[in-house]
Amino acid sequence: MAKRSDLEDRIRELTESVQARDAFIATIGHELRNPMTPIAGQVSLLLHLVRKGKPTQERLVAGLERLEWLIELYMKRATTLLDVSRITTGKLTLELTPVDVSEVLLEVAAALKPLADHARSPVNVVAPEGLVGNYDRLAVEQIVENLFSNAIKYGAGKPIEATAENAGDAVILRVLDRGIGISEADQARIFDRFERAVGRDERAGGFGVGLWIVCQLAEALGGKVTVESTVGKGSIFTVILPKAPRDGT
Ligand SMILES: Nc1ncnc2c1ncn2[C@@H]1O[C@H](COP(=O)(O)OP(=O)(O)OP(=O)(O)O)[C@@H](O)[C@H]1O
Ligand SMILES: [Mg+2]
Repeated sequence: MAKRSDLEDRIRELTESVQARDAFIATIGHELRNPMTPIAGQVSLLLHLVRKGKPTQERLVAGLERLEWLIELYMKRATTLLDVSRITTGKLTLELTPVDVSEVLLEVAAALKPLADHARSPVNVVAPEGLVGNYDRLAVEQIVENLFSNAIKYGAGKPIEATAENAGDAVILRVLDRGIGISEADQARIFDRFERAVGRDERAGGFGVGLWIVCQLAEALGGKVTVESTVGKGSIFTVILPKAPRDGT
């Protein structure tokens, strides 16, 4: 009898995981097609302006900036999908080299500036120069990028602070926002795959995989991620990364 119930549990688990995958594939189609509509629209608009005559320099720059922002959003979505498949198919390999964490924070903040400007949430980075650990650079970039983009997305248009500090044999990264916050019940599930605390259509969409990716990468580097948050006040995500991870590959 015990065996039968084991089998039933396993079938239930597999059914759930197939359903989650089907839902994910449906989401992919939706999420990759929809954002193309405003991109195509913006290109037509710019073409029309240029064909019609002499658009002012200002108008052209503003139009191209909007296009840049839309494309950046699109690429972020596509990258997220690639990350999920890299992790789930076990193709995540880490290449450990000396990585300057402060430099990564500044670079990612600069890359996400169009998103931050659009949301009116400036990202302020405070980190000592030359804070180096033995990491996979891409993994650190993805951790930071996911935490920044969440802070921007859920930050209610308020300033965001990012810090990195030297804790002896580890680096501690913190990303603080003053946005919508996360209830205690939701804090327990947001690190799982496909889990979102906000409704499906709320806040610029999303797959509910960003924090799962952050966790997987931090753990692969021998580190961990925690959250402290108060609804309506904001959230602080903390990532501890040992400077010389055991070979996590
Ligand atoms: N800084 C934050 N403030 C408030 N809620 C947050 C914050 N970061 C994450 N959340 C909540 O946790 C959920 C999971 O976050 P996660 O990054 O995994 O997914 P997502 O942002 O919804 O989608 P994506 O896959 O595009 O990242 C979010 O849907 C949101 O409800
Ligand atoms: Mg996210």
